[in-house]
This record gives sequence, C-alpha cells and structure tokens, in this order.
Amino acid sequence: MVKPLEVCILAAGKGTRMKSSQPKVLQTLAGKPLLGHILDTAELLQPKRIHVVVGPEGTELQDAFADRDHINWVVQSDRLGTGHAVMQAAPFFSGDGPVLILLGDAPLIRTATLSEMLITEADLLVLTVKLDDPTGYGRIQRNKKGQVNAIVEEKDADAATREIQEINSGVMLCGAGLIEPWLGQLDNKNQQQEYLLTDIIKIAATQDYKVETLMANDEAEVTGVNDFVQLAKLERSFQQSQAETFMADGVHIIDPARFDVRGEVSFGRDVRVDINVLFEGNVVIGDAVQIGPNCIIKDSRIGNGTVIKANSVIDGAVVSQNCSVGPFARLRPGSYMQNAAAVGNFVEMKKSTLGPGSKASHLSYLGDSQIGENVNIGAGTITCNYDGVNKWQTKIGDGVFVGSNTALVAPVSLAEGVTIAAGSTITTDVPADHLAVGRGRQRNIPDWQRPEKESETNPDKKSG
Ligand code: UD1
Ligand code: CA
Repeated sequence: MVKPLEVCILAAGKGTRMKSSQPKVLQTLAGKPLLGHILDTAELLQPKRIHVVVGPEGTELQDAFADRDHINWVVQSDRLGTGHAVMQAAPFFSGDGPVLILLGDAPLIRTATLSEMLITEADLLVLTVKLDDPTGYGRIQRNKKGQVNAIVEEKDADAATREIQEINSGVMLCGAGLIEPWLGQLDNKNQQQEYLLTDIIKIAATQDYKVETLMANDEAEVTGVNDFVQLAKLERSFQQSQAETFMADGVHIIDPARFDVRGEVSFGRDVRVDINVLFEGNVVIGDAVQIGPNCIIKDSRIGNGTVIKANSVIDGAVVSQNCSVGPFARLRPGSYMQNAAAVGNFVEMKKSTLGPGSKASHLSYLGDSQIGENVNIGAGTITCNYDGVNKWQTKIGDGVFVGSNTALVAPVSLAEGVTIAAGSTITTDVPADHLAVGRGRQRNIPDWQRPEKESETNPDKKSG
C-alpha cells in the first residue's frame, strides 16, 4: 500500500536578493505567484497534507492563498536556515509516511519528476542536476564509490568543491519518521551560521542510512529564483517551452521569444500568432484564427476563422466565427460579437452585443447596448450610457444605419430599419424604418466677412 505523503514547502526566506517589499514567493512567473506554481504541482500528488513554512509576515501569504484552506501554515519566527524551517513544521508530520520537501522559490518542478522520486526505496533521496554554471548552489559531494556523502553550500566550499557541477535542487524526500531525529542533530557551525537542511545528508550518510540522488535532466525545472535577473530568465525559458508545446501541436507562432501565456489557452487548428501577443487567464481560440502583432487576449473565446488585427486588446469577450477585430480595437468585459461582426480601429465595446454581420468600423464607443443584425455603426458613434449616476441601455434593431458622429443618449431604442442622419444627437426612441435627424439646421450666410487679426486693424496693439 502506498504510504500517505506529506509535503513541506519552505517559503519563509526574506528574499533579500530580490530587494522588494513583497515576499519572494509572491513574485509572479507567467502571471502566477511562485508559491502558486509549487502548490499546484504538489496538489497533483494528492498528499495527505501540505505544510508551508512562512516568515513572521506570513499572513500576507495566507491571504494570497486564502482559497486553499487545506494548507497547514507554519510560522518560522526567526529565520535560522532551511533546516530550522523544517524543524518548525516537523511536529505536524504524522510520521507514518514519507515527507517531500520543496523550495518555495523553485517554481517549475514537474509532477512527473516528483512522482519518479516517490517510487524510491532510499531513506533520503535528493533531486540533483548538473549545471554548466553551478555558482550559488549547494554542491553534491560523493565518496570514492560515487555515493553521496554531503552537500556543501557554496559559502562553505573550497575551490575544488566549487568545481563540482552537480548541485542540490533543494527537493528532498525523507522516509517515514526519519527526518525529525536528523534535524535534531543539526548545528549552525557554518559560514551562514544557519541550521542548513542540506547537512542532514552527511548525518544520514554517516549513520548508514540509504542516501541516494536522482538527477533531473531539465535545468529550468530546478532553477531557484533569488533575484529579478533569475526570475526573468526563468520566465523566458518557461514561455519558450510553452510556445514549443503549442508549436508541436500545430500552432503557427511566428516568434516563440515574443509569445507569452499567463494562464491557460487552447488553440484550434491552423491558428497563426504574430509577434508580441499576450494571452492571460482562460482563453479559447478556435480554428483558423489569425492574431496580429501586439495583441492582448484575456479570459475570452475567439471563434473559428476570426481575424484579430494588430494592437487589439480583448478582455472578457466572446467573439464568434469569422469576425474581424481591430487594428487598435478594445473589447471590454461583456462584449459579444456574433458571427461575421466587425469592429475596426479605435472602437471600444463594453457589455454589448454586436449582432451577426454588423459593423462598427471606426472610432466608436458601444457600451450597454444590444445591436441587431446587419447594422452599420458610422464612424464616431457614441452610446452615451452614463448620466453621471446610472448606466442605461441602448437598443438598435436589425438593419439600422447610424450616420457618423452620432450621440445615442441612453436609454434609447432604434427600431428595425431606422436611419440616423450624421451628426445627430438622439434622445428619444425612433420607430421602425424612420429617418431621424437630431441636429441644428444648417444656415448658409452669403458674403461672409472673416474676422481680421486685431494687430492688423489697430497697429498700436501688439498681437498676443
Ligand atoms: C538552497 C540550498 C542549496 C540549493 C538551493 C537550490 C540550503 C542550505 N541550501 O540554497 O543547497 O542548491 O537552495 O535552489 O538548503 N527558507 C526558509 N527559512 C529560512 C531560510 C530559507 O523557509 O530560514 C526558504 C526560502 O524561503 C526559500 C528556500 O528556503 O524558499 C531556500 O532558501 P534560500 O535562502 O533561497 O537558499 P539557497 O541559498 O538558494
Ligand atoms: Ca534559493
């Protein structure tokens, strides 16, 4: 029978090297806090319990993850090292199953790797990796037989030890009931004067426990984040690998170095994504969708055959099939474009439906409106939805033609087939098939004398 697993995540470090007022594990990678990545991964292992060790200001973390009510938050008031951190959590370990220790600042560890660790027979298993540049990490020291006998932190390492390229990822698995006695034997006689978790390797090895290593083959998986330079590098490598997965599935991404997903996105077939496109939250892209450069698409669904042109921002919208969006369009939450609808440059939509085949091609604001089928919204049309206190609805029936530069003062309703003269301000409902002209009449005044500049008529006065 598989023993119940417990997970202990270390997240109490100050993150001094970030030089930020935010706890390090709340810094985001691909839009998600570092700790969020680890928690998601750990949860997939279905552990009996997850313990997270936090510093004295840990309430900020608890608030950020308030929805995960199964976490046992353990406060480490004095940060006396990674070993000391685990000591604080140890009283909560049930002792009848293995304990998996994860670092809150190494966000990309994969569930598959952890699962591989879980099948070990060792008493203590350390996940390692070989790095071209091992600077800063704890080095894996082995005896003549090749067995691991210690981890030496960079600060305690001599020149020869620093040459070792195999490093400690920080991920460890300890057999049931073993870790507490090992922790009890830790001291802080080292450069950092801390109780180093890594010292349990030496303790276990000298006491003839079975200490083993597993080598990960993906560097990014075990990379720790200590400063913004490392965070940025890890972000890029994460985005690159996401892009490669999508490309392998047939998405035409023009440049994976300029492609970002902060959340979950699914792509249909024959989708083309130009440069600098950012996907956020939950996004579903249909078949044969084309996305131009510099677009942001967040929490939205895009239907088959739709074209999104450059510099468009789409948030909380549903865009149906064969639509055209942009360039420079902005769809805000509650925007619903039905089949073959089009919005062009500098058009903003919010909580509005644009019916099948309807178009707003230039410079418009459509807010709180229901627009029917085959409607033409002329350039510069504004739905005046706000009276300074309340928001009001605009209803536009099928086949309506709204002339350019029209203000539709809501609440107002245009029935089917209505035509609005350009430059109108429409304040009352218009019945079906009527022409509404809501503007002052034009007067043509003959022989008009233009005013002259004052300085020309009165040479004493200087013009300003
Ligand atoms: C640690 C390891 C090192 C390993 C590296 C991998 C130790 C002593 N060193 O070094 O061998 O190669 O990670 O990234 O374990 N933390 C606490 N309480 C503390 C101190 C730290 O909870 O008192 C937490 C931090 O929040 C962090 C993690 O433990 O998430 C690691 O601490 P950090 O100071 O970043 O250790 P490294 O120097 O990176
Ligand atoms: Ca670290």
